[in-house]
Amino acid sequence: MKKILITGGAGFIGSHVVRRFVTKYPEYHIYNLDALTYAGNLENIKDIENSENYTFVKGDIVDEAFINELFSIHHFDGVLHLAAESHVDRSIEDPLAFVKTNVIGTMNLLNAAKNQWKDNFEGKRFYHISTDEVYGSLGAEGLFTETTPYDPNSPYSASKASSDHFVRAYGETYGLPYVLTNCSNNYGSYHFPEKLIPLFINNIIHNKPLPVYGDGHYTRDWLFVEDHAIAIDLVFHEGKNHETYNIGGFNEWKNIDLVQLLCQLMDQKLDRAAGTSQQLITYVKDRPGHDLRYAIDATKINRELGWKPSVTFEEGLERTINWYLANEEWLKNVTSGAYKDYYKKQYS
Ligand code: NAD
Ligand code: DAU
Repeated sequence: MKKILITGGAGFIGSHVVRRFVTKYPEYHIYNLDALTYAGNLENIKDIENSENYTFVKGDIVDEAFINELFSIHHFDGVLHLAAESHVDRSIEDPLAFVKTNVIGTMNLLNAAKNQWKDNFEGKRFYHISTDEVYGSLGAEGLFTETTPYDPNSPYSASKASSDHFVRAYGETYGLPYVLTNCSNNYGSYHFPEKLIPLFINNIIHNKPLPVYGDGHYTRDWLFVEDHAIAIDLVFHEGKNHETYNIGGFNEWKNIDLVQLLCQLMDQKLDRAAGTSQQLITYVKDRPGHDLRYAIDATKINRELGWKPSVTFEEGLERTINWYLANEEWLKNVTSGAYKDYYKKQYS
């Protein structure tokens, strides 16, 4: 049985990847390594926690000795690395936390994999899940491709760019078999309500202001998280060694247009008069260093691996809203932090 390590599997995207791998691949044993930071929540994967081919490991990727020991015990065949500090606004407040987890943490995993696999890389794979933010900001035209030069602007994207460079360096220098993907903005279930879509859904439910940064004319390319998990599965199994693939939704939205649409849909779902939620929109001070536009050219992954988004934005957004409305308890727990107290007892 192959042993696969997935890091960050209690987070937003990681929980979807863990669920997919545990249920689709009974021939793998999946180890989910997560420090359960504010963003990690085992409620996200409650449905699979008792699966025979699944083990949860609480631990910090920044802890080198712990990571080395974990690899020496389990002899993993593959690593899918998603654990990260992921929120741009937090990186502006505390950049060092991002260097620790995203750079040092990634280094610890790379070293442990290299040292364990060095005698035989056959059948081994290190997969680093990264972001389109490493490419910096687009103007009104053009798309990010795999050859777009790195030009990160926020401490978050600088830390992710740095970790991408180290992954490639380990491939070139030590022959480490790696694949790397850079993805656009995800949305969907289990998304922590500090990010635009879940924050605004939560605020609309509670009639709280919707803080639109600057003039709202910033553009993001949105991808349904389950489509990202499908792409990750495909790249892990069929991607070429030492290759990068961009993943995106072909789905650009200006923030303000997306917020208006969200308000409209929420009014319908909550049986509120049309225009009610829109009144909550509040323009606030802009994010420093705010990237104007992200948009991905996902031609390569489509051409080489046959992947394209399967869920339209209309369907994905409706499914997302329905999920949050049906899971208000989850929202309440993550916003109050109550889930932390529960799992603290179980895993400390
Ligand atoms: P998230 O913040 O929801 O989850 C991150 C997970 O990592 C959490 O469970 C957290 O507990 C864990 N973690 C954080 N620090 C850790 C540490 N030191 N040791 C062990 N575990 C730790 O993040 P996400 O949105 O699911 O993003 C997952 C990955 O995908 C990240 O690498 C991110 O850069 C990348 N990504 C995210 C998006 C997006 O739109 N969310 C898009 C492209 C790429
Ligand atoms: O592009 C991929 C990236 O997408 C990922 O690598 C990051 O982990 C993920 O957090 C996301 O980064 P963004 O900064 O684009 O996402 P966020 O949801 O924070 O913001 C989306 C846009 O909405 C951005 O232009 C800032 C704006 N915004 C965000 C928040 C939280 C607001 O106007 N108001 C808000 O309150």
